[in-house]
Amino acid sequence: MRIAILSNGPGNYSTKRLVEEANKRGHEVEIIKYKNCYISIEQGSNQVFYKGEPLGKYDAIIPRIASYMTKYGTAIVRQLEMQGEYCLSRSLAITRARDKLRSTQLLAKYNIDIPKTVVSRDSGDIDQLLDQLGGAPVIIKLASGTHGNGVVLAETKKAAKSTLQAFYLTNEQGTNILLQEFIKESAGTDIRAFVVGAKVVASMKRQSLDDDFRSNLHKGGSGTPIKLTPEEEKVAIKAAKVMGLSIAGVDIMRSERGPLVLEVNASPGFGIEKVTGRNVAGKIIEYVERNATRTIRKDRIGA
Ligand SMILES: Nc1ncnc2c1ncn2[C@@H]1O[C@H](COP(=O)(O)OP(=O)(O)O)[C@@H](O)[C@H]1O
Ligand SMILES: [Mg+2]
Repeated sequence: MRIAILSNGPGNYSTKRLVEEANKRGHEVEIIKYKNCYISIEQGSNQVFYKGEPLGKYDAIIPRIASYMTKYGTAIVRQLEMQGEYCLSRSLAITRARDKLRSTQLLAKYNIDIPKTVVSRDSGDIDQLLDQLGGAPVIIKLASGTHGNGVVLAETKKAAKSTLQAFYLTNEQGTNILLQEFIKESAGTDIRAFVVGAKVVASMKRQSLDDDFRSNLHKGGSGTPIKLTPEEEKVAIKAAKVMGLSIAGVDIMRSERGPLVLEVNASPGFGIEKVTGRNVAGKIIEYVERNATRTIRKDRIGA
């Protein structure tokens, strides 16, 4: 097969591993730096260009869109979809996953348990909002944060109110802000389940190194392999499906009332391979081999 990987970092571990596994299985791979692509749009004809040449006619495209470039990256993916290319992650699904409000709305709608969440644009409602969550401490989250940035733990009502006010003030562009029940029983740890198709291919527990409540590896957290309970496995697979993602990193917290889904990452890192010894990249290439087809599946999620 001819496979293209949309990645701005050819040297990234994840990109290198995909190339390695695809080559091992006899495929031809090109890395496309999507930040250097442009789209030409006119009546009846749109086309992505890269290095002066029209881009397309691959058997499969694997988007690895960085969160800081979601808008541009998904525009390129969308255009390639319109050209009839098979893209492993759909532009709509990537966009959906990058918005924590949109994701939580969808997950809750499809009956996946999440930390209880309220959203408001008015810090005057703070008493009611906190009541809804059972009081402080609460988590305050920017809908578009990543790597643990934009997630704050407010220990008291006063802290929650002033943090919210500061967020609203500096954030008039319209990033939504989520207030969330603080899952204290597993603060500082969470589980990452790597889903490919309808299977969890690797899972690890992440633990913050110091007393941070955030367990992101980017924040210095460390990972250890973990076996999921059947319920956790089921929840992870369902969460990926609800988001319309065939490749997903599902973050789960173990709470007193069972597994809660925190978020579903559309471009999960492959660091989990080093932690678990699983060949995640190989599983992805196998999935692409089984599913690549020029017919674009319709997204029926409706949000
Ligand atoms: N409701 C919560 N209760 C307790 N800890 C949380 C909660 N939400 C997030 N965290 C911690 O903060 C980390 C980052 O939050 P997350 O929603 O995954 O945002 P990001 O996209 O920045 O990773 C999580 O991995 C988890 O350790
Ligand atoms: Mg996260």
